[in-house]
Amino acid sequence: MIAERMASISPFYVMELLARARALEGEGRSIIHMEVGEPDFETPRPIIEAGKRALDQGFTHYTPAVGIRELREAIAQDYFSRFGVKLNPDRVLITPGSSGALQLIMSTVINPGQAVMMADPGYPCNRNFVKLVSGIPVTVPVGAETGYQLTAEIIDREWSENTRAVMVATPSNPTGTILSRQQLEAIYQVVKARGGVLIVDEIYQGLVYDVKPFTALEITDDLFIINSFSKYYGMTGWRLGWMIAPERFISAADKLAQNIFLAASTPAQYAALAAFEEETQRIVEERREAFRERRDYLLPALQQLGFEFPVVPAGAFYLYANCRSITEDSFSFAHELLETEGVAVTPGRDFGDYLPEQHIRFAYTTALEKLQEGVARIARFIKC
Ligand SMILES: Cc1ncc(COP(=O)(O)O)c(C=O)c1O
Repeated sequence: MIAERMASISPFYVMELLARARALEGEGRSIIHMEVGEPDFETPRPIIEAGKRALDQGFTHYTPAVGIRELREAIAQDYFSRFGVKLNPDRVLITPGSSGALQLIMSTVINPGQAVMMADPGYPCNRNFVKLVSGIPVTVPVGAETGYQLTAEIIDREWSENTRAVMVATPSNPTGTILSRQQLEAIYQVVKARGGVLIVDEIYQGLVYDVKPFTALEITDDLFIINSFSKYYGMTGWRLGWMIAPERFISAADKLAQNIFLAASTPAQYAALAAFEEETQRIVEERREAFRERRDYLLPALQQLGFEFPVVPAGAFYLYANCRSITEDSFSFAHELLETEGVAVTPGRDFGDYLPEQHIRFAYTTALEKLQEGVARIARFIKC
């Protein structure tokens, strides 16, 4: 018998869509991928070379559960260089992707029956991480009025006796919208006043286009940060992320990491040391510009087809479009678009229960020419 908890764990539908898109490609169909939540660029060369060197040098054994000291220090140093934040490297825990960090945080913070508040739409796996520790994900519908983000007022209003933590993501998946420093500060104040824990997902932090990025650590040390080498550094498949924990949680998280992961991938950790080299920084910044160019093309192009964007997404590589003037059922639309025109997009259903049928996520994780071809195909599909 499969354990009962599995009944409440929902699949990640985009993976099914991706599998279908790959199957069609296998049959020789040309597919434009606008569903994939990972950069199309390869991992920057200096990181790949450092990874190869690590293998040649025999860095293939376990590391400490919280990661190699050099990498924890390099990350702490990076917070200082970028944001002027002085961070004790002991508070940086290296994890298998930020997914590993999410698992550690939920396990060390949430008791069975306690609630974690998060935005709907939001990153789908968060709900499941909460359920895995027998917590209750409380998803709060948020719309364009608040930039698809929770606000201090909403959090205060929705707080209940068993609320233990609040999760926000800035920039957000699927909406690409960000929280301003003032908004985040206000959120922190409410969570603190209520005696809760704030978890800030900054995994798209490097990918911000219209404003200067900042980190929630500039506001306070008293929160959890999640981050990753996956997106900005193009290392999705290496499975490497990190979390920054308030000091009182470090030893519990370390103890759990020893048990459930032993450690993150060793060659990946050594490879990631090269992420902070000048040449890598130049490459990732160049790519950020490429993403910005794609966004600046795709958003108006989709608007012309009738998709609506009440808020301009300032970060990540997603556009969360309202498609109500084109279809009332984004799920069927996405499936038919894939079968008919070979364009893969993600319907709102993956991201929550708030008007999913009216929303589609477009990822601009493919070259500009492909996006242009995708838009032409979508235009043809809509006109038919
Ligand atoms: C908002 C957000 N958080 C966390 C993750 C997990 O990423 P990873 O485990 O590769 O670091 C993702 C992946 O898409 C994401 O979009």
